[in-house]
Amino acid sequence: MGAEQAAPGGPDLESGIAVSELADGAMLLGHVGEEPVLLARRGAEVFAIGAICTHYGGPLAEGLMAGDTVRCPWHHACFSLRTGEAVRAPALNPVSCWKVERSGERIRVREKLEPAPPRRPHAAVGPRRVIILGGGGAGNAAAEMLRREGYDGDLAMISADDAPPCDRPNLSKDYLAGTAPEDWIPLRSPDFYKENGIDIALNVRATAIDPAGKRVALADGTSRDFDALLIATGAEPIRPSVPGAALPHVHTLRSLADSRAIIRAAAASRRAVVVGASFIGLEVAASLRTRGLEVHVVAPEARPMERIMGPELGAFIRALHEEHGVVFHLGQTVAAIDAGQVALQSGERLDADLVVAGIGVRPVTDPAEGAGLAMDRGVKVNEYLETSASGIFAAGDVARWPDPHSGEAIRIEHWVVAERQGQTAARNILGARERFDAVPFFWSQHYDVQISYLGHAPAWDTIEVVGDMGAHDCAVRFRRGRKLAALATIFRDRESLETEVAMERATAAPS
Ligand SMILES: Cc1cc2nc3c(=O)[nH]c(=O)nc-3n(C[C@H](O)[C@H](O)[C@H](O)COP(=O)(O)OP(=O)(O)OC[C@H]3O[C@@H](n4cnc5c(N)ncnc54)[C@H](O)[C@@H]3O)c2cc1C
Ligand code: FES
Repeated sequence: MGAEQAAPGGPDLESGIAVSELADGAMLLGHVGEEPVLLARRGAEVFAIGAICTHYGGPLAEGLMAGDTVRCPWHHACFSLRTGEAVRAPALNPVSCWKVERSGERIRVREKLEPAPPRRPHAAVGPRRVIILGGGGAGNAAAEMLRREGYDGDLAMISADDAPPCDRPNLSKDYLAGTAPEDWIPLRSPDFYKENGIDIALNVRATAIDPAGKRVALADGTSRDFDALLIATGAEPIRPSVPGAALPHVHTLRSLADSRAIIRAAAASRRAVVVGASFIGLEVAASLRTRGLEVHVVAPEARPMERIMGPELGAFIRALHEEHGVVFHLGQTVAAIDAGQVALQSGERLDADLVVAGIGVRPVTDPAEGAGLAMDRGVKVNEYLETSASGIFAAGDVARWPDPHSGEAIRIEHWVVAERQGQTAARNILGARERFDAVPFFWSQHYDVQISYLGHAPAWDTIEVVGDMGAHDCAVRFRRGRKLAALATIFRDRESLETEVAMERATAAPS
């Protein structure tokens, strides 16, 4: 999916429209010069903001207005209609805002407004030295939000990656398929971090945290003091534990370096075996097919992703990949790998110049665990994303938090959740005491089909399929008892957004 720029359509908003053309609660796509502009009405107020989402270019006019915000249909970013601010990830940049004038029965859009200034610098109370462990989605979003909130103290990001924060979801999709240019991958330019006073240390691993002394020890032998710390160390891929798993043509995929290594290997390969029918495994399969490789997928389950998506979607995903030439070996596990073949437990042998394992990840908990922080299959945090040690927060794939929607403590591996947790943790580092109550959301892309998933249903009582899966137009509702626990959709983005808002309302704390 790319940053498609729609040709400006709809009415010329400088000439204006009749008030009657925009009902209360409605949105309309128009343009000002060459720029597509979204006009939205809420009661007597009318807002005009840029119509293209700053994440991947989603059409905001096809999204959902909720209060004085609009949510993007593609991956649920949320923008303020008043200021254009990207209130919730995955969009990080604001959209433009225009002045709207109403004279009599006509609404006209006037000049573009100056971007909202950064919030007032934070009061002298609160932390003056913030350290973020991890340069992934959560760490990056936290660093940006600290600055957006006016934090002007020291801010360091320590990352074991050798590249600055990148668009990790793309590493198995367009980038791996060779259809995304290199400049889509960094979340920000190096200048951005300099200009915002974010001191990034790459290729450095934190080895220990001293919560009482408020100090982090690094693998290079140095240490750093902090007033507040965010643990955003994410997760690392599990390698298969079979003979041959350490051979150089056997890859896992987490970092930009991993994706580049697979691209290099793919250029010299004809046949790939993907071990594991996980989201990442199957996205890799799709990308390698796009590169023209023969692709075999080996996985123990009867249907790909059935445990998370249920049998109907599992069968759909299998058929979709088979249509694109992927060969499945389901109900099978790998026994051993050698230089040219993958041996299955069944005795079958598959030729493979390239092997990619997508069999899951484990949270990177060692610095937190060594510090004696409370753990629960991940770093345990409260509703404010604070760990058992005051002033130390955790966010993203590493954190297990009390999810108000499922009523369970959950740890999940979704990009949008990681970024939003980073944003909430940043505000809480500054004393906001904001509960993390976003409804979990993720998407997965297979060829030209995006599957969106909202909520959390590790188990369910019933599945209801509405629509036509074969026609790529459906919603799959996962219920526990009568309660909707999760919703998977294919090209039904409005329903996904409406359900998100309904789930938020159902668990909103009484004001
Ligand atoms: C290939 C791929 C595709 C994906 N596609 C999707 C998708 O389509 N949709 C979706 O919702 N999710 C997707 N995900 C999942 C999503 O990327 C993760 O949920 C998200 O990256 C988690 O963010 P994070 O900041 O918690 O962890 P990460 O992004 O993994 O970042 C962790 C950071 O911590 C650093 N680190 C680790 N240990 C240490 C240490 N001891 N000291 C210092 N730094 C350390 C790492 O180097 C890294 O910089 C995908 C993941 C991958 C790998
Ligand atoms: S394109 Fe709008 S959230 Fe991704």
